[in-house]
Amino acid sequence: MELKTTDPGIINFRDKFELKDKVVIITGGMGLIGRAFAEACCQFGASVTIADRTGAGSEEHAKVLSGKFGREMFGMTMDVAKREDVEKLKNSVLEKFGRIDGLINCHQNKTAKFFAKFEEYTDEDWDAVVETNLKGTFLTCQIIGGYMAEKGSGSIINMPSTYSVVAPNHNLYRGTSLGSPAAYSASKGGVMALSQYLATYWAKNGVRVNQITPHGVWNSHEERFEKNFSEMSPLQRMSYNHEVAGAAVYLLSDASSYVTGHNMLIDGGWTAW
Ligand SMILES: NC(=O)c1ccc[n+]([C@@H]2O[C@H](COP(=O)([O-])OP(=O)(O)OC[C@H]3O[C@@H](n4cnc5c(N)ncnc54)[C@H](O)[C@@H]3O)[C@@H](O)[C@H]2O)c1
Repeated sequence: MELKTTDPGIINFRDKFELKDKVVIITGGMGLIGRAFAEACCQFGASVTIADRTGAGSEEHAKVLSGKFGREMFGMTMDVAKREDVEKLKNSVLEKFGRIDGLINCHQNKTAKFFAKFEEYTDEDWDAVVETNLKGTFLTCQIIGGYMAEKGSGSIINMPSTYSVVAPNHNLYRGTSLGSPAAYSASKGGVMALSQYLATYWAKNGVRVNQITPHGVWNSHEERFEKNFSEMSPLQRMSYNHEVAGAAVYLLSDASSYVTGHNMLIDGGWTAW
């Protein structure tokens, strides 16, 4: 919201970070980072919708958050890559809360052969990764972002990857069972381009489109991987999901009212060397 003044004394900077009365949808909301986003948004006052695929437990987790925060939250089992599911998500959230102010696209698809060598990557695995990561983000942006553009306000956060910003240093995976496939980088490169496109496309409609790029978020990784990572990271350690969440609160809130088209790197300096 534009406030034409040079007097910072009349601004309540704490209030600017409030998400009270904001309705926020988090796709992949049951994932490692999605759960931290949901908790942080709830703590800052938002009404949160957890949208995740079959078996993730979105509805149950929404109930837990409702109980903890004493207000209604919503959970929905859905597939971001299916147009009818995303339409249903938008309509259900509007029916329940009457508005949508924020969308975080926090989903990603890891297939059974996700870490296969590039030379051996199958069409099926490639399609499954791109379909969820990129097409899923296209659909939620088009359907939910389209609603925001029509109403004249909203904040969208998409999630690319360090490996769409820079190439992986494959030494990181030495001695581990892990890797980072080209399908992941390519799908996330698409997410970055789409986000930049929409940031300028919807600027006139009051919809801000930004990105958060986490890196090396710890999830009980193999010891060797953690060691490799720490040796290569400027901050000499992996990150935690709760260290990523503050960026989402900022980008969803009025504190970031002049920020759009930005990619916030939460990478411990990985891309700064
Ligand atoms: N963890 C990291 O270090 C890291 C680093 C850079 C970027 N990212 C990105 O951040 C986001 C969150 O990462 P994470 O580590 O929490 O991932 P995660 O794998 O823990 O969670 C992803 C969630 O997406 C859900 N999902 C998968 N396919 C879906 C579909 N078709 N429809 C709806 N939901 C679906 C999964 O069930 C899961 O809950 C992802 O986009 C990821 O690529 C993560």
